[in-house]
Amino acid sequence: DLKQFAVDGERALATYDPGFVNTASCKSAITYIDGEKGILEYRGYPIEQLAENSTYLEVAYLLLNGELPTQEQLDPWVYEVTNHTFVHESLKTFMQGFRHDAHPMSMLNSSVAALSSFYPEANQIKDPEVAELQIIRLIAKMPTLGAFAYRHVQGKPYVYPSNDLSYTANFMSMLWKMSEPEYKPDERLVRALEILFILHADHEQNASANAVRAIGSTQVDPFTAVAGGIGALYGPLHGGANEAVLKMLRRIGDVKNVPGFIEGVKNGDERLMGFGHRVYKNYDPRATIIKKAVDDVFEVTGVNPLLKIAQELEKIALEDEYFVKRKLYPNVDFYSGLIYEALQFPPEMFTVLFAIPRTSGWLAQWKELVNDPEQKIARPKQIYTGYRTRDFVPMNKR
Ligand code: ACO
Repeated sequence: DLKQFAVDGERALATYDPGFVNTASCKSAITYIDGEKGILEYRGYPIEQLAENSTYLEVAYLLLNGELPTQEQLDPWVYEVTNHTFVHESLKTFMQGFRHDAHPMSMLNSSVAALSSFYPEANQIKDPEVAELQIIRLIAKMPTLGAFAYRHVQGKPYVYPSNDLSYTANFMSMLWKMSEPEYKPDERLVRALEILFILHADHEQNASANAVRAIGSTQVDPFTAVAGGIGALYGPLHGGANEAVLKMLRRIGDVKNVPGFIEGVKNGDERLMGFGHRVYKNYDPRATIIKKAVDDVFEVTGVNPLLKIAQELEKIALEDEYFVKRKLYPNVDFYSGLIYEALQFPPEMFTVLFAIPRTSGWLAQWKELVNDPEQKIARPKQIYTGYRTRDFVPMNKR
């Protein structure tokens, strides 16, 4: 929508594009999406193949470095991440100061921002070795901070990381170990979480990646930039949607209430959460993979009765003209909440489960930004609609 606007009294050409729907803010070689066809690729590899064959840390390496790692590259990468999972004891104390009922995303946001105060060298963003160490630290410490936030709300002592476990199994162990002394995560559930982590690792210029890039463009340290991404992800229209899906399913309560609920959505009373996407105008490919994972998880945990309501909503919506005309399909959040609930996560943790894997995507984009000679400080134009030069009015004349 190219229009002419008056800028300082002169006519100048600018695009007015709220939400940057049609404006590319950067060049990127990391993630490719074709929303019309429902295609998602990391560094050219289809998401379906990565979800089937790889681990989360392998995918994180791919996103950050551009190629799948050889065994000789993967082993030290996994070793380094595994050996940076501990956080400074003072950061633990810092977290203990949060209110007992603080939202885990709020705690994660603040504690990741606080990490920059523990690693002042992190501001040397142009030094590749220093930058690499911060990337390792962030990817390694996110599950620890996420698990501490969870235990904090539960009023339970924090569980320290274990270097003998995989990335996802370690996270599950930090969440639940002491509540069940014999706790050993079921391998099928560990794999389901691993798949969800792979699916959430990156998604090109979504709101939180855009926030990370905007903050990163000021050349601040990566902890501060990622904390900004966590802030953006916290919003209900972005990472908060799967929590909203579950609340919606609970409110609907029974399959027989689905048609009435759909009518309400069509009348504009509310949105069908977990449906629609800024980019996908087709089935979100991540939703297809998650739908399959739902069956594997429910085989272990037993079926959640909310699944039937979700399936009925999907069935009716996919045949209804309102949704068809607007190309509204299930997105990644429609079924992920059901899996998280089956894995025993309370809804407040859902967005944390998104933030942990998305950290690799944010950092891959941050690294790309820092090394892109064409990048400038993010500073969009505005279309000024207010008054022009007015004389100050004294208090007794207003
Ligand atoms: N339910 C009902 N109607 C919807 C929905 C929905 N979930 N999503 C969009 N629409 C309608 C809008 O009302 C609008 O209709 P209109 O043309 O008659 O006014 C039309 O579809 C286009 O909607 P926009 O808001 O312009 O689409 P946009 O691309 O800006 O929004 C968004 C995308 C925010 C994701 C939206 O679809 C939405 O709010 N969905 C529900 C929340 C959700 O599931 N978010 C998760 C997204 S995935 C993620 O962040 C990982």
